[in-house]
Amino acid sequence: MPELQDDLDHYPVAVSGDLAGQVPIIDVGAVIHDVSATAAREAVGQIAAACRDWGFFQVVNHGVPQNLVDAAWRETAAFFHQPASIKDAVMRTRDNPWGYYNNELTKNLRDKKEVFDYTTDGTDPIYHAENRWPEVDAAFRTTLSAYRDAVTRLALSLLEAFCVGVDLPADFMRADFEGGHTGFIRLNYYPVEDPLQAPNAGHPPVADLGVHHHSDAGALTVLLQDDIGGLQVFRDGFWHDIAPQDGAFVINTGDMMQVWSNDIYQAAIHRVLAMHEKDRYSIPFFFNPSANAEIRPLPTVVSAERPAHYRTVSWAEFRGGRTDGDYADCGPEIQITQYRI
Ligand code: OGA
Ligand code: NI
Repeated sequence: MPELQDDLDHYPVAVSGDLAGQVPIIDVGAVIHDVSATAAREAVGQIAAACRDWGFFQVVNHGVPQNLVDAAWRETAAFFHQPASIKDAVMRTRDNPWGYYNNELTKNLRDKKEVFDYTTDGTDPIYHAENRWPEVDAAFRTTLSAYRDAVTRLALSLLEAFCVGVDLPADFMRADFEGGHTGFIRLNYYPVEDPLQAPNAGHPPVADLGVHHHSDAGALTVLLQDDIGGLQVFRDGFWHDIAPQDGAFVINTGDMMQVWSNDIYQAAIHRVLAMHEKDRYSIPFFFNPSANAEIRPLPTVVSAERPAHYRTVSWAEFRGGRTDGDYADCGPEIQITQYRI
């Protein structure tokens, strides 16, 4: 399994269709309907294989209505084109990570992008903070809330498939999410122009990447990308393009899934190239456990021959550490390898 390392970005990009081929595209219609039915068996197997081999796959027939997806795109583009004063009014702070940000750091380099983050309604249980909604049309909030709820349903179905894939009852992990999961949505805007140019001297240098390579911290990510391309996953010494697929979501497993599965499912390292010709948008939903969840390898993947590879991870502690590192240069970011036994 590759570790995060400085020189990873110098590895070559695989020629399309080369080597291990493409990240699989999986029809999850039967999984959404009833994960335990015989009809879902094939898709469950494909998901398990994709998580082992890539940590990434795409899903179609996922049940999220196209009109909701279209509306989410419209609101996202409209928001980032608002004047700076509207966006700055909902700027993220150290105490409250929700809202707008144009200075995100991954591995302490500034990513060339703008983001807007929002979570469930009410006070979130990790930061004790509430969403910041901008003063734009009311549809922004209602549309994006409906979108969040729809992708949450999809994520819960996929979680069931992960459980069945490691020989556990479908609802085995539900308790770690129910009654207060800490998932959140990020609207990503990757502009061709650096949003912080010369007048903002004093910012860390911009990386020539949209997002520096990383693994996602939580359980799984349900990502909508537009048709521009630029998302790449690292596997076997190559970067592989995740080709935009109309009507599909890109799914990837995060660090917590790697711990639960005791390294059977990997949290794949991925990145986004910087945009040089066209602006790009994406909308990931990071599906994360409850604040009080304690993550440890699941019973079916630990044995005398294969002992647990990780000590217990407190999700709130891990997530809190990662966010601090994203906000400002607080020294090395927390990584899951620190929990390895
Ligand atoms: C992320 C991420 C990918 C993309 O925000 O963690 O990996 O395509 N985004 O925007
Ligand atoms: Ni990511």
